[in-house]
Amino acid sequence: MKDMMKKLARTVEYLKSKISFTPEIAIILGSGLGKLADFIEGRQEIPYEEIPNFPQTTVVGHEGKLIFGRLGGRNVVAMKGRFHYYEGNDMEVVVYPIRTFKHMGIPNIIVTNAAGGVNTGFVPGDLMLITDHISLFCDNPLRGENLDDLGPRFPDMSKAYDRDLQKIALESAKNLGIELKSGIYSYCKGPSFESPAEIRALRLIGADAVGMSTVPEVITARHMGMRVLGISCITNMAAGILDQPLNHEEVMETGKQVEKKFSSLVSDIVANWK
Ligand code: HPA
Repeated sequence: MKDMMKKLARTVEYLKSKISFTPEIAIILGSGLGKLADFIEGRQEIPYEEIPNFPQTTVVGHEGKLIFGRLGGRNVVAMKGRFHYYEGNDMEVVVYPIRTFKHMGIPNIIVTNAAGGVNTGFVPGDLMLITDHISLFCDNPLRGENLDDLGPRFPDMSKAYDRDLQKIALESAKNLGIELKSGIYSYCKGPSFESPAEIRALRLIGADAVGMSTVPEVITARHMGMRVLGISCITNMAAGILDQPLNHEEVMETGKQVEKKFSSLVSDIVANWK
């Protein structure tokens, strides 16, 4: 485990040698939501392959780079291309960027994702503020020896998604005239989409949306005491709701359709961050 701290130190040392400021907020961009990065001013891009010890991406539609700059008048870093468990990555790899951000001195994180709508009141193109998550059937990123330097063995998840940041997000949405739904994100391992029976079961236990990312990152961020805001883009209705098959193209297509409202919302939230 000392190795992990050494690896992180090397990664952070490299990033600090390239970037002269410490971002206030890290933003993880979900599938099809990468356009937000274009709104960042004074961009300094660092491809993952240049960063010592940083993992590499494999999914179509996910580039691999960190984009440093200013958004809404604040210093930020956006992560274009995240690491999923379904790619075969160990959890340690999936959450490595989050640990990197914390070690750079970044206290806040916005996690975004494409998700299937489980709540039948949702429609594709909706944005959903994540109020809590369900991760019952999935591996925990903190399994194994605890990294005491990072956080406690049994971290609390009762308010994983910061209440004050949720208020700011709802206020921003209202001011911009953007409808922002709220709900519970359920994490499934993928890469196959869920079955209709699984979706019915998830709805029964309280899920509003389902996706294949985000929760490991949030658990890791909370382990280290970072403040978290989460937004899902409902790119499709989850399996079995409509009489049509699910596919990745639809996910990317809907992401493209909402990118403008998504980008304005996130920029405004960042500008009003407290
Ligand atoms: N299920 C899981 N992950 C997803 C979905 C879905 O329906 N849509 C986008 N990501």
